[in-house]
Amino acid sequence: MVARSFDLAPAALATPKLTFAPLATTSSEVDFGVDAGTLDLPGLSSEEFTELERAVLTHHVVVVRGQRGLTPREQLELTRRFDPAALAYGHGHRPEIMQASVLVQDLVSIPDCPQVKLLGNGRVRDHEGIADVTLTHPSHHAFHRTPLTREREARGLTRFYRWHLDAALYELHPPRVTTLLALDVPEGPDQTVVYDDGSADELHVSLGTTAFVSGSKAFDTLSPTQKDFALRTRVRYAPHPYVWMRHARARANGLGLFSEGRELTRDELPVYDDDKVTTLPLVWKNPLTGRPSLQVHAYCVEELFVEDEPIGDLDECRRLLYELMRPAIAPARVYAHRWQPGDLVIFNNRGVWHSVVGALEPDARRVYHQCNLAASEAPRGVEGACRTS
Ligand SMILES: [Fe+2]
Repeated sequence: MVARSFDLAPAALATPKLTFAPLATTSSEVDFGVDAGTLDLPGLSSEEFTELERAVLTHHVVVVRGQRGLTPREQLELTRRFDPAALAYGHGHRPEIMQASVLVQDLVSIPDCPQVKLLGNGRVRDHEGIADVTLTHPSHHAFHRTPLTREREARGLTRFYRWHLDAALYELHPPRVTTLLALDVPEGPDQTVVYDDGSADELHVSLGTTAFVSGSKAFDTLSPTQKDFALRTRVRYAPHPYVWMRHARARANGLGLFSEGRELTRDELPVYDDDKVTTLPLVWKNPLTGRPSLQVHAYCVEELFVEDEPIGDLDECRRLLYELMRPAIAPARVYAHRWQPGDLVIFNNRGVWHSVVGALEPDARRVYHQCNLAASEAPRGVEGACRTS
């Protein structure tokens, strides 16, 4: 690990009450992520919360330590402070849609607080009103077109699962933040993520890490021509996108899908309303810093438009997005969090992309609580670049 220094958040107060230190990482180009130490999150004053919010919008990933005692209700209330008008879970509360989607195995609702989800791996009993459930860590085995062989896995190699934003991308606006609380963290040797995309890229990570990259860095490193294209592009997501793509297969580096005609047809989809189909700018503007951020859920995209003109077919759209996005997941640009029990990661869902990593044995216990809320408003594009809806 290396100690890093970069410009920390401008203080909301003349005398800041919270302190933030850069997170340790061996990835040399990571310019985001801070450690807030231990905080009394339910007891944060409005001034302290404002500092925390500014840190999330500036540094994108904020780790708060020592939160094993944070209740689901307290986690929900904290998450809601970032968007007080938000009510519903980020993917909504329609069980028939979740059941039909690729997300069904990933999330279990806490009965008294359904906006908070239990996720992880292994058998969990008598937990927050849940009598008995067996969790399965989502892994590339069920999703990548060409998974790792068991022999390569036995040598400590693994994969990113799926680079994404947390968002329903139908009917509901993408959450502002996600909070992710580690209660139990699996123990085991570190692993090496292999990209298997024609590059020799690989990344050393802890078992069961969560990986993040910066959407601002993704935008900043585009060529001038690519920036101009990205700023003028709008993204239309498929209706019920996680149902639509549930049979599709992913690239080995977790960055998008192959186009093999596996997406559901319109007739095969649950009933949908054209008015609820989501169209968003490809580049979003950070509401605090004004920085542009390349923010797109490549798996759910059905069409791209430049000045209302569609750009090619689905395969061409995916190819264009892949070209724009691939540089951002270079090993030097990935922050892979080394979880400790009690870590609460608050991430700017409108400023980073993230991925589950690795595959766990059935008896490896990983217990997390996750919360995000469908936002009260859509993300804003960069003014003058394109329309935002
Ligand atoms: Fe996620």
